[in-house]
Amino acid sequence: MQGLTPALENLTVKGKSMKIDNIVKYEFGEPYDTGAVVSETKRGTGIPEGFRYDADAQTLYYGLNEKDMIFGLGETVRGINKRGWIYVSNNSDDPAHDDNKTSLYASQNFLILDDGKSCFGIFIDNPGSVTFDIGYSDTNVMSIHPEYNDTTFYLINGNSPLEIVRSFRVLTGKSYVPPVWAFGYGQSRWGYKTADDIREVAASYKELGIPLDMIYMDIDYMQDFKDFTVNPDRFPDFENFVKEMKEEGIHLVPIIDAGVKIEDGYDVYEEGKSKGYFCKKEDGTDLVAAVWPGKVHFPDFLNEEARKWFGDKYRCLTDAGIEGFWNDMNEPAIFYTEDHLKEVFSQVKEFENKEMDIWGFFDFKDVVGSIANNPEDYRRFWHDFNGRKVRHDRVHNLYGFYMTRSASEAFERMDPDKKILMFSRASYTGMHRYGGVWTGDNTSRWSHLLLNLQMMPALNMNGFLFSGADIGGFGGNTTEDLMMRWIAFGIFTPLFRNHSALGTRDQELYRFERKEDFKNLIELRYALIPYIYSEFVKAVNDNGMYMKPLYFEYRNDERCREVEDQLLVGDSIMIAPVYEQNKTGRYVYLPEDMKLVRFRSYNDYDTEVLEKGDHYIKVGLNEVPVFIRPGKELPLGKPARQVDKIDMNDLEIIRF
Ligand code: GLC
Repeated sequence: MQGLTPALENLTVKGKSMKIDNIVKYEFGEPYDTGAVVSETKRGTGIPEGFRYDADAQTLYYGLNEKDMIFGLGETVRGINKRGWIYVSNNSDDPAHDDNKTSLYASQNFLILDDGKSCFGIFIDNPGSVTFDIGYSDTNVMSIHPEYNDTTFYLINGNSPLEIVRSFRVLTGKSYVPPVWAFGYGQSRWGYKTADDIREVAASYKELGIPLDMIYMDIDYMQDFKDFTVNPDRFPDFENFVKEMKEEGIHLVPIIDAGVKIEDGYDVYEEGKSKGYFCKKEDGTDLVAAVWPGKVHFPDFLNEEARKWFGDKYRCLTDAGIEGFWNDMNEPAIFYTEDHLKEVFSQVKEFENKEMDIWGFFDFKDVVGSIANNPEDYRRFWHDFNGRKVRHDRVHNLYGFYMTRSASEAFERMDPDKKILMFSRASYTGMHRYGGVWTGDNTSRWSHLLLNLQMMPALNMNGFLFSGADIGGFGGNTTEDLMMRWIAFGIFTPLFRNHSALGTRDQELYRFERKEDFKNLIELRYALIPYIYSEFVKAVNDNGMYMKPLYFEYRNDERCREVEDQLLVGDSIMIAPVYEQNKTGRYVYLPEDMKLVRFRSYNDYDTEVLEKGDHYIKVGLNEVPVFIRPGKELPLGKPARQVDKIDMNDLEIIRF
């Protein structure tokens, strides 16, 4: 079936500037040009309609009615409907993603309010910290409080959530599209130290015939964790190794961290220092922080010249044949700063000389616990942002965005026709034009599998179509059943990567007992790639969503308001993953009659038509239930060891 995959339109990373009529922009203070927006809108005066503004509290209020649901905010904790919690856009390196957290690694300040009859969207373009209290302090009030007033507020009108999403994305530009092979399966782990470790991963997958397109390289490949270096003892003749892996069909995807190691003679450090490209403190000296390499300076990605300089550094790896990267630690994460560490030591001395009562003990703990990612540290350094000297905390959420922009613009300069895989940990709206995201350091917990599902639609709304989580969980020890269920969901996420932390249980699929079942699951992903890629590209082209909450399609169905564990994937299917331990099935709500396809492998499945309503369906650990919507079809290819070997014309179609 030729022509399944629509042609990509408008693939310039900068998006297309046009004038939009249904969006009105209001300005507070002196907003920065963050780069989030690419189109012109109408201008409003005063306070956006329906809102109340308290100038003293610098807060906007909006009264919520009983039916109001709130969607969006991208990568945040809790469910699809964000009502009932407080969320703070403040990019944070915090691996404990529990329900009590208010900030994760990303800031995507777009949300939609919908009471079932009318709806509207808002986008708060403010790169500092912004607090969204969505019925937390007062169940019937949403308040928006930016730490710094300087905000562009966009009010987006539309007749449905999807229409509002489309307008928002015209406002903020087309989503990034990675190379097709990036839709394959990727194996990652922090701890593959040598070329032989990587060869072993590739060989083990090959031996079992489990498809694999990528092996990710974590910081271990670098020389002393220095960006744009390769350890020559562990990876002798890196260029040939990249070639060797490519001959096996494997793309190597190295990590790049934000901090540049301070080390005499290290060219990136020397150049950055002499050209003045690192973030400076008030006194003009370069900030000294510590991350994986030890002491580092942070490149000032907000400064155009520095951005260009850093981006061009990726060339040393692309010249060696590398075609994909992941940008990390770019909130930026700070283990400590030299300055704050001095303060802590002097405070600790004071404690040493005092009698410590129990409150003193807690104060002491706070002092010691304040070392990493200290908010005060984000006030110690400055950027040269479009010629304006700006303190970091005022534009904090742009840092990861601009690091990724730095790489992506360099790739454009190198070869505008070549697609490079790029995704980042920290992000802000607008970065979706330059790369995708992974959702950071989750844990091997069942609740994080559900969180992965619930984050996807909000990421999609914000244009982060190429996204996914660390499958199996990054921190903690995974289990075979969790891995299997997570893979069964992950086969639908565009970024499909198994990644885990140093010191945790090995979780490459060949480490488990049920190797054949894992193979079937991964093969099913490859069989679905013609559909996944085609629906992904459609969502890019029409500014839509590849993964949607049911409510976005079935807005008149009251029940869909509350469905938080099923998703629509593309136009044809709905998925209902199992995300609890020891479950052999689950309840599913069908908003209309659907055809259930219960896959055990791409060529072993049974089908059954189920009526609109509630059903309990059995789902064995090796099964993947997929629901085809009326009148729709699901094309299936034949799996291959790598994406580029799939024959996109040899498709079987399952229809309903
Ligand atoms: C950070 C990243 C993680 C990576 C680790 C070591 O925690 O989020 O993915 O493995 O650093 O580089």
